[in-house]
Amino acid sequence: RQIYILNGPNLNLLGTREPGIYGAQTLSDIEKLLRERAGDRAELVFRQSNHEGELVDWIQEAGENGAGIILNAGAYTHTSVAMRDAISGSMAETIEVHLSNVHARESFRHHSYLSAVCRGVIVGFGVKSYTLALEAFLLE
Ligand code: DQA
Repeated sequence: RQIYILNGPNLNLLGTREPGIYGAQTLSDIEKLLRERAGDRAELVFRQSNHEGELVDWIQEAGENGAGIILNAGAYTHTSVAMRDAISGSMAETIEVHLSNVHARESFRHHSYLSAVCRGVIVGFGVKSYTLALEAFLLE
């Protein structure tokens, strides 16, 4: 199965960005770990963008390819009707992930525009949020 792992704004800074909240691992560490975990069980497409429209394009692309999506939309989680519409319009089965437990943080992070149109949500397990999402896809 093909799985897109899409990362939103500021996630390119992982490793140096607020390591107390997001951990010391970089985005390329996460990519490496996921590729090891997936092995030949899934074909991973791993991307990051700081631009909302580019993320919308990639969600549509995943849908056209019949792929699943593991999506950490970063701050767009809390703002983006466009990404929500892309998920519901593309029909791509999507798992929303967050490194941090957004519900234990500022109240503006408690609401997600995306959760209601996602298959499920995995929040607060650090890098394991991604590996758990990968396992959820591969168990199906
Ligand atoms: C995040 C949580 C968001 O609130 C924040 O804007 C991020 C990262 C996380 O993975 O914990 O950029 O999605």
